Parts: sequence; structure tokens; C-alpha cells
Amino acid sequence: MRTLQPFNAGWLYVADQVDLTAPDERFQEITLPHTNRLFTHRNVDCLDYQFVSTYRKHFTWSPDPSRPQVFLDFDGVMLAATVWLNGVLLVEHLGGFAPFSVDLTPALVPGENTLTVFVDSRERADVPPFGHRVDYLAFGGIYREVSLRSVPTCHIDNVFVRPQEVLSQPRLEVAVRLSQPAPDLILQARLIDGQGAVIATSQGAAAQPDVTLHFDALPPVTLWTLEQPALYTVEVALLAAGALSDMVSSRFGFRTAEFRPERGFFLNGQRLKLFGLNRHQIYPYIGVAAPARLQRRDAEILKFELGCNIVRTSHYPQSPHFLNRCDEIGLLVFEEFAGWNHIGDEAWQQVALTELRAMIERDRNHPCIVLWGVRINESADNEAFYTRTNALAHALDNTRPTGGVRDFLSSAFLEDVYTYNDFSNSVAEPTQQPHLITEFAGHMFPTKSWDGEERMVDHALLHARVHNRQMGNDRVAGAIGWAAFDYNTHIEFGSGDRICHHGVMDIFRLPKWAAWFYESQQSPAQRVVLRLAAHWALGDSAGGAADSMLLFSNCDEVEVTVGEQVVGRFQPNRADYPNLPHPPITVSGLNRALAHHRYQHRDLRVVGYLAGQPAAQLLFPADRLPRRLLLTPDADCLVADGADMTRLAFHLVDQFDNPAPFAIKIVTLEVEGEADLIGENPFPVVASSGALYLKARHRPGVVRVTARTEGLPAATATVELLAPGTGEPC
Ligand code: GAL
Repeated sequence: MRTLQPFNAGWLYVADQVDLTAPDERFQEITLPHTNRLFTHRNVDCLDYQFVSTYRKHFTWSPDPSRPQVFLDFDGVMLAATVWLNGVLLVEHLGGFAPFSVDLTPALVPGENTLTVFVDSRERADVPPFGHRVDYLAFGGIYREVSLRSVPTCHIDNVFVRPQEVLSQPRLEVAVRLSQPAPDLILQARLIDGQGAVIATSQGAAAQPDVTLHFDALPPVTLWTLEQPALYTVEVALLAAGALSDMVSSRFGFRTAEFRPERGFFLNGQRLKLFGLNRHQIYPYIGVAAPARLQRRDAEILKFELGCNIVRTSHYPQSPHFLNRCDEIGLLVFEEFAGWNHIGDEAWQQVALTELRAMIERDRNHPCIVLWGVRINESADNEAFYTRTNALAHALDNTRPTGGVRDFLSSAFLEDVYTYNDFSNSVAEPTQQPHLITEFAGHMFPTKSWDGEERMVDHALLHARVHNRQMGNDRVAGAIGWAAFDYNTHIEFGSGDRICHHGVMDIFRLPKWAAWFYESQQSPAQRVVLRLAAHWALGDSAGGAADSMLLFSNCDEVEVTVGEQVVGRFQPNRADYPNLPHPPITVSGLNRALAHHRYQHRDLRVVGYLAGQPAAQLLFPADRLPRRLLLTPDADCLVADGADMTRLAFHLVDQFDNPAPFAIKIVTLEVEGEADLIGENPFPVVASSGALYLKARHRPGVVRVTARTEGLPAATATVELLAPGTGEPC
């Protein structure tokens, strides 16, 4: 029976390429995921992470005849890696976004072993996406987890679970790939529901390297839906004379997902307008080396804070933790292979194909994934290459369609879904179908959290307008905006601070007003949303007027009061946004109300009504000066594993706890306990908010964080550190 051990703690690291025999003293101890260096959140220079670094790990191994073969599974190393064991070169791996495994067996010795990984994080022209400048930073390091897998010689290599006839007579095909055929061995599979009950079994001989097990007569199953994403597990065991020799289990869901020409997208036979955003895997300070908690949190932000039903993993395979969370919460995914606007030579294309294979073989059991991206984002046509990528995707997964993201309408269409980046600020009408908009907005509208009110409003309304148009057009399956979060980029792109401020949230995942447009499209049954897209700082508008003001809300109507005077009741703007579930609300006639009040009595009150009843309220004081500093960790406990992290956001707020928009102050954080602050400290806050991250060390206990800024009371928060393995992480 296999063992699978996390292999993340106790690595040694040096930010240089050193000799295999260099003394350990030259290294520092680190835990994976790891970034080859830390950064400020903006003004990141790509040259700062482009070097070769050395990772070393000593470990002991005792031979076990029941599992003689030992693999090291890397979830992701940026951008190329050479792996050495005990002075023997085992593998050179090219490609930073997909997983790869290294067979250690040939060089493994009983007792002490030394593993060395040279990580080349330079933008090598022979490795996708490079060979051309790309609009994002790749960063560097062993930035995802590693595990050590010991298996019997005949073991299970891959399991692909294919639900069939889901909406009529559900069946399952489970395709098992073995490392080698073993005519005497038996494969046994169990289907387990979300409560842990075994609901069906199947078995077959392990006589071929590829065996398909069938579950033909299934009891009624619960569908995977966006509201109730029911998950099942298939557990495949390999038995030798009745004894368990190997076992692999995989989660999946019963659902159908189809793109139909002229009709859009259908989940479980029901039409669903796709409404989403693109996600880069980039974080402030740590580049791409975000642990599980942060990856999972991004999925939660997209689903619950932004109300999206789909995300595109632009422009590469993303973390398994992110995808697992999408499965669990019901968020659809369009996953694409690595690349950006450039196709290299045959060797480069081979690397891309290898990454495409690794992505599909890793991810094809995720019910959240509904489309594979097999065209290098916005590249030129290349029929030979794209015939191969499509054929490979179809051969590896005959249950999902392919898409290929293009930015010119005349592009050759070799995929199943016409995925198009549409920067017309409207909805273009390609002749090809089915059609999905995979990007809009973006560089057409970079917007910073500290931009003026007009810009912030226009940004939000651009997203609202495009979604209104796509929602009113049955021929388009949906639209995925650019982008969820701001991201670090190269000098050729973005603003002068090397950030593409294209997110509806900033790089810390703190909302701009465009985020509120997304959030407000949720059903109020999910969450009642009422947001003011205005500063309520009366002299900040051009001409000093404040006659109209924008709200994003899913309430039926709002009542607006200034001081004691009711300005009026206002309804969603259905005339201009007839297709949105919850159009923005424009409040007019404010100047008249303001004229009646002296400044200090100009507090603003907005009450949102649902079915005639008050459901939400906003209070904005006339005085917008910062009165308090808030400190809000996302998690109140972390696992003391040396890697777990949570965001520590801080906000300068007015007396009613609204962000104070013009607070420009220095905030300093201090930590007591076994955790480290990651980020710029002191932090220069502009536009009210910012964030650092708190990273657990290896010892359980309680950590106390204090935030200070001149002139306001300090804010504190505590975070508990739990010993690894003590139950579910909070
Ligand atoms: C697109 C590209 C994205 C991003 C975006 C900015 O053309 O696919 O990666 O660069 O532009 O608007």
C-alpha cells in the first residue's frame, strides 16, 4: 500500500546556484510553498526574481519491499528545475505551471539522502509563456507543495472518473491507468457519497495497463449544482491475493455542462448565463507562492464576495487548492494551458503540450471545470499546433469541450467553443458558435483604488454595461471580465508602478467599486447588498456638485435621507440596464436636500427595501475624516506548519466605519508570538486600506497583532496557531 507524505518542511534554500557540495551553512531553512524572494506590493522589477536558486533537503529513507518505488511529486516549480539526488542528476523539467513527478528510486540509498533542486526562474525563451514579453510576472521558486510517494512496482498511476447519462440513467466509467499490467491483481472500486456511505462497487482484472471499471446500475445520485455542489468519491484499490496493494481516491461530481450553438451554456440541462472574472495567481509580497488557505480564499471571494459563477484561470493551470475549493462551493472554471500571445519553436511547443497533458490528467475529475483552453492566449493562428492541442485535449478527456482564447474575429476556429477577448466595450457578433466572451474591460479601463470618483464609477459601469449587453444576447454564453484582482506586470504593461490596475479588486483583494457591481448581481436570498459608489465628500466632484450619486444594490428600492430630509425613493435603472438582475440605482435631487442643511447635519442615510421591508442600511457622516483604525485578519486561526498564512487587512474608517477615502497615513504592525508579518511594514496607506500577511511558524500558541497609526487608537487582533493535524483547519 502506498504512502504519501507532505514534503514541505525542512528545506534549505540559497538565492544562488551553488555547488552540490556547498556546506549547509550557506543555506537558510524554509518551508514550501516558497518564493525565491519577497517583494514590495508594487514597483516589482522582474529582474529581481530572475536567477537560479538552490533548494536542498536531507531526508532518511528505509527500503520497504512492499513499496519499492519512490516518487517526488512537485505541484509547481517556476520556471525550470533540475533535480539531483545524492549527486545524481535525475530530471530536468521545463514549465512552471503544471505538476511533475520525479522517480527517485534509481539514486535513493538506505539511510541519509540529499536532494538538490536547482530552480531556474529566468524568463527562458525555450519555456512557455516566454520568448516574448508577457503581461504578468511569473515570479520564482518551488512555489507549490511537494509530496513523497512510495508505491509498489505495480501501482495506480491515474484515475479518470467519467459520469455518463447523468440526467437520465446515471452510470460511471472509471478509467484506471496502471504503471504496469498485473494479470494476478484485481482492481476494486467503491463509490462513496458525501456522507461517507459506500453506494456502489465495481471490479475488474488488472491485466492491461489501462482498465475501465463500470458502475452501471447506480442508486439515485445528487447532482453537483452551483447551489448544492454535491461531491462523491471514487476509491480504487489494487488487490493482490485479497490484500490491499495500492489505493487512489478521487473526488468528482455528477453534472452535465454543455455549450450549445446559438443557445449559450447549460448546466444540468438548465440554461445558465456565465458571469465571471479572470484570475491571476499573483499575490502581493509573495509572488505566486500562496499557501492553500489563500488559494481557497480566492475562490470564496469570487463566488461569495463577487457573486461570480465562473472564473478563467488566466493564463495557466492554477493551484489544486483553488480548484478544490471551486468544486466545494460551486464555482465553474475555464482552465487553460500556459502561454501568452507567443508560440515558440517545436521544442517550446512540446513543453506546452506536456503541460497541457499534465493539466488535464491532474484536473479532469473536477466537476467545476467546464472548458479546456488549448490555444495560447491571443496568439496568431497556427493550424498545425492547434490541431495537436485540440486532439490531445479530446484524447485525454472526451467529456469536455475545448476553447481557445483569441482576440481577432477572423481567427481559425479549431475548438468546440469560440472563446473571444472582446475589447469593443460591447458584444461583438462572431459568426462562429458557441460563443463565450473570455475578457473585456482590462487595459481599456485601468482603475486604481485611489482614483477619483468619476473614474471609479465609470469603471464599475463599464462592467455593468457589458454584462447588461451579454445578458440580453442569447447567442453568447456569458462574459468573463478582465480581471478579478490587480497584478504585478512587466514594464511594457500596466501603470508606471508595474501593476495592471485592471482588477475589480486591488492586489490585496480589497474591493474597488466595480467589485460592488459584481457583488450586487447576487440574489438577495444569498446576501443583501447595498453599496454607495460615491465618496460623500461634496467638494470632490467636478464643479462641486453632488446632484446624482450611484448605488449598487440588490434591493427593490432605496430611500435616501440627508440629515432629517428625505430626498426620495429610488429604483434600479431598468431603462438603461434591462438585462441585469439588479441594475445600478441612480440617486438624484441631492443638491436640493443639501441646500437645507448646515454642513454638520449632512449625514447621509440610505435604507434598502425588499418586498416593502427595510433590509439594509448605509450611514455616511458629513465628516469623512478617519476616526478609527480597523484590523481584520481573514482567519482567526492558522496551522503552525511554517507555511499557513492569512491576510491582515487594515482600514482607516470614518465614525460609521466606512472607508475614509482620503486618509493617507502610515500604519505600522507589530506581532507578538510565533508568526511573522509578510509585507511592507510600516505600510503607506492611500485610499483608506491596505494589507499585510501573517505567516505561522512551527509552534502552536496565540499570536497578537497590533496596528498603529498616528493620532488614532491602536487596533489589535489575535490569531491562534494550531498544531498540524489537530482537526480541520479553521
Ligand atoms: C488581454 C490579455 C490579458 C491582459 C489584458 C489586459 O489582451 O489577454 O492577459 O493583458 O489584455 O487588458
